[in-house]
Amino acid sequence: MTTSHRWQFDAYNTPAEALAWCPQALAEPGPGQVLLKILAVGMNRSEFNYVQGNYAPARAFPSGIGQEAVGEILAIGPAAVDGPQPHAKTPLTVGSRVALLPGRVDMCEMGTYSDVGLFDQAALAPVPDTYTDAEAAGLWMGVLTMAGALELAGITPQSAKGKTVLITAASSSMGVIGLKLAKTWGATTIASSRSAAKAEQLAAFCDHTIVADDSDSLIAGVADVTDKAGFDAALDPVGQAFYPGLIQGAATGASIISYEMITGREPILPIPLMMMKDLTLRGYTIFRPYRVPGLLTQIIDWGMAYADQIKPIVAGTRSLSEAPKALEELGRCEHLGKLVLTSNSTN
Ligand SMILES: NC(=O)c1ccc[n+]([C@@H]2O[C@H](COP(=O)([O-])OP(=O)(O)OC[C@H]3O[C@@H](n4cnc5c(N)ncnc54)[C@H](OP(=O)(O)O)[C@@H]3O)[C@@H](O)[C@H]2O)c1
Repeated sequence: MTTSHRWQFDAYNTPAEALAWCPQALAEPGPGQVLLKILAVGMNRSEFNYVQGNYAPARAFPSGIGQEAVGEILAIGPAAVDGPQPHAKTPLTVGSRVALLPGRVDMCEMGTYSDVGLFDQAALAPVPDTYTDAEAAGLWMGVLTMAGALELAGITPQSAKGKTVLITAASSSMGVIGLKLAKTWGATTIASSRSAAKAEQLAAFCDHTIVADDSDSLIAGVADVTDKAGFDAALDPVGQAFYPGLIQGAATGASIISYEMITGREPILPIPLMMMKDLTLRGYTIFRPYRVPGLLTQIIDWGMAYADQIKPIVAGTRSLSEAPKALEELGRCEHLGKLVLTSNSTN
């Protein structure tokens, strides 16, 4: 039996009001499980929303929090005979550094905002050797989301050349990885942000930047940087405020992938224009790679193969002991890239 601690909550509230650092007793890892010492936790907007009741409902209370992390294997149970298995490149030995995969981490029971936890072996993934713990903690949510959404839009390492890809809310931890993936694969990339200062920083790793906070500014920005040609694919979490601008800014035959709806879920869709332009609108979540045979393996292979080119930008590290304050900071949207919790924070 191991005693550890985790952040958990009993009722929805602001992170500062809701979260408490509580002891938990952990059994020895059973079949298909590992005991993992958490080294760094990648923070996500969905966690800020989850604790306030604005995401998928908690399965039970108290609920843990956190979907991705990097850690060191302390103990390992026998392999599971049936069911999902970790990616073949995952080192399943005591002392190895591994990542926890969003989509296979059950936040309620296995939330990653903890010092030591019991996790399914199937939730483990490999980590690029060249990454720091903080970089490794912020890789897989971004890759599962953005490589999966790009693939859904028909943008792959084989097909990206000659295509123009718009990434909205590009300063987000998802956006940065989406931009880097699309550019590495050979696409022309456009980043949008509401902030001129963030757009200036984004210019370092994309082809064009746009400062936009509504449909009109998005339409003007896309027309300007594409010489009115429009984009071939857009990956968007902004939602309502950017429709119908996304449809207006699309080239004929383009794909628009919605993976969130930060500004609202009831956009106006100009259907005649969609018809005339032969547009495809798709929704995406990280659960698709778990459903489509072979896709999860393909996405992890891409993440490892392009690891050096798509390294996450760590916006800052904060101590795990200050997780509620760090979540409040994430909510203010002042960061660019990934906020990370570590047990030994330097910032
Ligand atoms: N579907 C899925 O499976 C999936 C998976 C992962 C993440 N997501 C979603 O993807 C989004 C990004 O996640 P993240 O953790 O990377 O977020 P993040 O780092 O916290 O970044 C969010 C960014 O969204 C932009 N934003 C916030 N409010 C906005 C508004 N009212 N209008 C326009 N832009 C706004 C801001 O960029 P600027 O300040 O630069 O404008 C902000 O920095 C979240 O909504 C998250 O829930 C979905």
